[in-house]
Amino acid sequence: MSSAVARPRKIVVGITGASGAPYAKRLLQLLAEERAAGRVELGVCLSSTAPEVWALECGGDLREALDVPVWGLRDFRAPFASGSAGWHAMAIVPCSMGTAARIAHGISDTLLTRAADVMIKERRSLVVVPRETPLSTIHLENLTALSRAGALVLPAMPSFYGKPETLDQAIDTVVGRILDHLGVDRTLSARWGEPDTGAKT
Ligand SMILES: Cc1cc2nc3c(=O)[nH]c(=O)nc-3n(C[C@H](O)[C@H](O)[C@H](O)COP(=O)(O)O)c2cc1C
Repeated sequence: MSSAVARPRKIVVGITGASGAPYAKRLLQLLAEERAAGRVELGVCLSSTAPEVWALECGGDLREALDVPVWGLRDFRAPFASGSAGWHAMAIVPCSMGTAARIAHGISDTLLTRAADVMIKERRSLVVVPRETPLSTIHLENLTALSRAGALVLPAMPSFYGKPETLDQAIDTVVGRILDHLGVDRTLSARWGEPDTGAKT
C-alpha cells in the first residue's frame, strides 16, 4: 500500500493596479483555506499600484487583509522568481494593461512580472485576468502575444446564466473559472449542464 502524501500545489497570485481587487480578495480567501488544509503552497506578489486600488475597492490595507505572506515589489529571492523552484501555476488578478504589456514584452522589472516570465519560459500555467474596457488594438495585441506564449487569458467577465443574486455570487463566476485553471478543485457556482449543488458560498 502506498503511503505517498500528495504534495501541495504551488500557486502564485499577482495583484496589479487594475480595477477588480474584489476578485483577488475572494481568490486569496479561498486559496488561504486550501493552504490551511495543506493542499496549496501560496505566494503573493503585488505591483506598486495594487495597494492603492485595493484600498479604494476593498477598503483597508491589502497586506493586513491577507492571511498569506506577501513578497516585496522587487524581492527576487522569492522562490517563484526562479524556474528551478518548480512552482506550478500563477494567476494575475486583476491584470492591468500596463502589466500585460510588460509581460508580453519580457520586461521582468518586478517580482510579479519576473514570476510571470518564469511561468511562460517553464511552460507552466499562467492565468492572466485582464480588466479594462474598451480594449485598444495595443491591449489586444499584447493579450494575443501572451496567449500565443502559452498564457491563458481569462477576462474578468462575470457570467449571468447561473442567475447570480449578489455581487459576491457574480464575482464567484469569475473566481471559480480561475480556480479551475489553477488546478484547484472548488465549485463556487453552478456549472452549465450540472444540477445546482447550492455551493454558492
Ligand atoms: C481606481 C483605479 C482603477 C484602475 N483601473 C484600471 C483598469 O481597470 N485597467 C487598467 O489596465 N488600469 C487601470 N488603472 C490604471 C493602472 O493602475 C495604471 O495604469 C498603473 O500604472 C498600472 O500599474 P501596474 O500594472 O504596475 O499595476 C486604474 C487605476 C486606478 C487608480
